[in-house]
Amino acid sequence: MAKAARTTRSLLFVSVLIPLLATLGADGVGGGSSRCPLVPSMTAQSACSAVSGTRHMRELCLRTLRSGAGAAVLPVTRHAATAVRGALDSYAATVAAATSLLDGGAVPADAEKAAFGDCMVGYGRARGAMSRVADDLAAGGCGDGAAGLKAGYTAGLRGMDGCRRGLLNYPASPLYARNLADRNMTLLAALLCSLVPAPPSA
Ligand SMILES: *[C@@H]1O[C@H](CO)[C@@H](O)[C@H](O)[C@H]1NC(C)=O
Repeated sequence: MAKAARTTRSLLFVSVLIPLLATLGADGVGGGSSRCPLVPSMTAQSACSAVSGTRHMRELCLRTLRSGAGAAVLPVTRHAATAVRGALDSYAATVAAATSLLDGGAVPADAEKAAFGDCMVGYGRARGAMSRVADDLAAGGCGDGAAGLKAGYTAGLRGMDGCRRGLLNYPASPLYARNLADRNMTLLAALLCSLVPAPPSA
């Protein structure tokens, strides 16, 4: 009899509580209609190995993530957020450098000045898009997070590419080299965002 009762309790647990917990897990954060993915956790090293196709990217990844995380096992949203912050910081440094080149009279030609201007437009767009990615990551990739993340980092990459197109005639410009580095940081952030799974459907 006791054994039967235990079995009944086990069945109850399996058939009722687990689905209930799964529902709570999927719907819990953010309340109401938002759905949240089950975000995997890993070390910076594992995240970097998972996303990096080249040695250069892997080193950039480790440099970017390890300074904050060390060997800690963290949700991939945290690793992605670190890279997004790194990209935003590097955009800010590039915009500051471009501004001081312009203000210091280091860009005398009008056409090159115009290219700098177009580049700054691209950076403005990338900054807006990647700031939204940062917000989505802070929300744990819930709701339309995965699609939102993708739209955001795609726009970030487009902003970087827009800058480069304008600078193609000025490959010796310090801005050109900085833009390539910033694009790599943006790509790193995008790759790490791709580790965030889509929320479960329905
Ligand atoms: C950007 O990344 C590519 C490939 O990962 C690398 O070959 C290139 O040197 C990097 N450029 C800069 C400026 O960091």
